[in-house]
Amino acid sequence: MKKITVIGAGNVGATVANVIAHKDLAREIVLVDIKEGVAEGKALDIWQTSSINNFNSRVVGVTNDYLKTKGSGIVVITSGLPRKPGMSRDDLITTNANIVKDVTEKVIKYSPEAIIIVVSNPLDVMTYCAYLAAKKDSRKVFGMAGILDTGRYRAFLANALQVSPKDIHAMLLGSHGDSMVPLPRYTSVGGIPITELLNKDEIDKIVERTRKGGGELVNLMGTSAWYAPGAAAAQMVEAIIDDQQRIFPVCAYLNGEYGIKDVYVGVPVRLGANGIEEIIELNLNKDEKKMLDESAASVKSMMKVLDDLKLFEE
Ligand code: LAC
Repeated sequence: MKKITVIGAGNVGATVANVIAHKDLAREIVLVDIKEGVAEGKALDIWQTSSINNFNSRVVGVTNDYLKTKGSGIVVITSGLPRKPGMSRDDLITTNANIVKDVTEKVIKYSPEAIIIVVSNPLDVMTYCAYLAAKKDSRKVFGMAGILDTGRYRAFLANALQVSPKDIHAMLLGSHGDSMVPLPRYTSVGGIPITELLNKDEIDKIVERTRKGGGELVNLMGTSAWYAPGAAAAQMVEAIIDDQQRIFPVCAYLNGEYGIKDVYVGVPVRLGANGIEEIIELNLNKDEKKMLDESAASVKSMMKVLDDLKLFEE
């Protein structure tokens, strides 16, 4: 691919740019920020590792200059304030909605064909916000959270079982918040269901830690995480660029799938060159379906908060 743009050169945006540069996924990676010099500096710093780590992707930083993003095939939006200790992701909605709307409109003007991956929080609602601003097919506007959340879940499981995280496969549904729905029935280690390897108490503890995984890091660091969020967004970029048709949990717009309509929420999808190629509907038992419905309802109430801000009225 010729060009990928990452909006926001904070910790997450810079990490996304760094990982996709190291994977050599584009001829040019444009990092954009509103703070003078920050994107330029981080891009230059990343680019100076190219000869050491052997990649060719040119990393370029700009301050608010969207013309430089023209013709991007993929845009990753990380703009917005991160959480501070004691805040929920939903506390950020008003501030970040204005930012996400603004940057989406600017970037889509120069790259109308781009696939948009949203990383800003509160994730599910900001993905909806970018969708409204981009006025594009929802299969081309979606959010990163499920790969991050399953990444945490798989890391905790790898520790508990003393196995390689590579051998752990997992699926997770719902919002990127405390109501997320990890699915132990759809989690396996080298093909062995984890329900045969850990007892219910042990699994419940790991599920709970996963749900609060972002908050655990905010409490430790005073701000939200970046290595795993950045790596997770980069994995989505890679799946699209290489048309990998990989199955990931992604924040996608549901239009009747799982009996849920008009909500952006995490579900398994097949990701390829066209963005979301397919939304995969798992067979859920009664408890799992109830948790997904509750999670979708909580996102819907936050989407209403966004609608009530009336940012998108002509
Ligand atoms: C987290 C933030 C990025 O979960 O939402 O770490």
